[in-house]
Amino acid sequence: MDKLIITGGNRLDGEIRISGAKNAALPILAATLLADSPITICNLPHLHDITTMIELFGRMGVQPVIDEKLSVEIDSSTISSLVAPYELVKTMRASILVLGPMVARFGEAEVALPGGCAIGSRPVDLHIRGLEALGAHIEVENGYIKAKAPEGGLRGGQFFFDIVSVTGTENIMMAAALAKGRSVLKNAAREPEIVDLANCLIQMGAKIEGAGTDTIIIDGVDRLQGTTYTVMPDRIETGTYLVAAAATGGRVKLKDTDPTILEAVLSKLQEAGADIQTGDDWIELNMHGKRPKAVNLRTAPYPAFPTDMQAQFIAMNAVAEGQGTVIETIFENRFMHVLEMQRMGAKIQIEGNTAISSGVALLKAAPVMATDLRASASLVIAALMAEGDTLIDRIYHIDRGYECIEEKMQLLGAKIRRIPG
Ligand code: EPU
Repeated sequence: MDKLIITGGNRLDGEIRISGAKNAALPILAATLLADSPITICNLPHLHDITTMIELFGRMGVQPVIDEKLSVEIDSSTISSLVAPYELVKTMRASILVLGPMVARFGEAEVALPGGCAIGSRPVDLHIRGLEALGAHIEVENGYIKAKAPEGGLRGGQFFFDIVSVTGTENIMMAAALAKGRSVLKNAAREPEIVDLANCLIQMGAKIEGAGTDTIIIDGVDRLQGTTYTVMPDRIETGTYLVAAAATGGRVKLKDTDPTILEAVLSKLQEAGADIQTGDDWIELNMHGKRPKAVNLRTAPYPAFPTDMQAQFIAMNAVAEGQGTVIETIFENRFMHVLEMQRMGAKIQIEGNTAISSGVALLKAAPVMATDLRASASLVIAALMAEGDTLIDRIYHIDRGYECIEEKMQLLGAKIRRIPG
């Protein structure tokens, strides 16, 4: 298992490019199953989760063709199996995103039930109930979700999400795109990745209105066709590098990103004392050598503060001036990174879903373990602020969602290297 070694103490300073968004690329890849002619997807990030999705397609008889710029052409007409097996689903929960497209286009699908995971129980009941609202007949048997469309295919329906779900909204929106008649999704997730997926579907010929609001109206069409689509920038990767620079009192300019989808994060960074400049596709953050001030925040669905940025802000608060309170409302077990940071000398207390930190000037290097994707990123930030060499184990988590993290961090002046193992 690869490990990272980080020598703390360097102030980050430099410019890097932001990659395509993992959480937009995954549903867009799944959406290619809906088209009856080849689709080309550009700006796919080079990440382990993307490779897993491509491997899943391979198992189903669909062979994506990847060019040297990592654009992928997918022709789903060669599909030969409508099963997403457990050994792949258990490594990536987002595999559930093929469920809606397969039932809508091919009339049936079998997708393994993803189990619990490091950040919470994460059920998929809304995906199932949403598809049932479109007429699908679903049985959960032997650890698999077995879904069948009724005679004549899925039909439009109304569905109210009693909890806002990002991939749930995406799954049902994709299925509804090929259902007969109108579907209305209420209390839908409003994340920018939903808008990106809707834009791709619209380019394929879908009729969708309201993506980005809590009510999405989809008028099903008979067929969706191929197109070329470029995935949006990754707002969580963007936020992670901004926080890393802020924690170290440094400066960073991020290119090929989009400041309009990061308002909650940018405003918290300003509160922490960052000077932030933005252009159409770039963000520059400068702390002018100052130590950040601790911030209070509460995670909630978009446009509020994202749960995927909570761990990174806890790392910043750990070395910031003053006391900071972070409340996690989306996942019940998303504080594993706090226990690792405590081993590095961070003064953070957990009370239920709240983490209260009293900033210390410097952390102390210690061997630590990454427990999930964003937790790993937060440990990298903590290590940048630690005296000595921090060894981060189990960094396969980080490779699921951060493209070339050590190269990008090195470009910003961090002392970081990978030890293959
Ligand atoms: N939930 C249910 N039933 C469902 C679905 C969700 O109760 O059927 C609950 C979850 O347990 C959770 C809440 O609803 O408490 C919200 O979960 P959501 O469904 O929105 O999460 P997700 O779609 O599985 C996506 C991202 C996550 C991100 C969350 C929240 C992708 C591929 N994943 O997950 O990203 O944390 O939305 O914004 O888009 C990451 O990238 O590190 C990551 C975990």
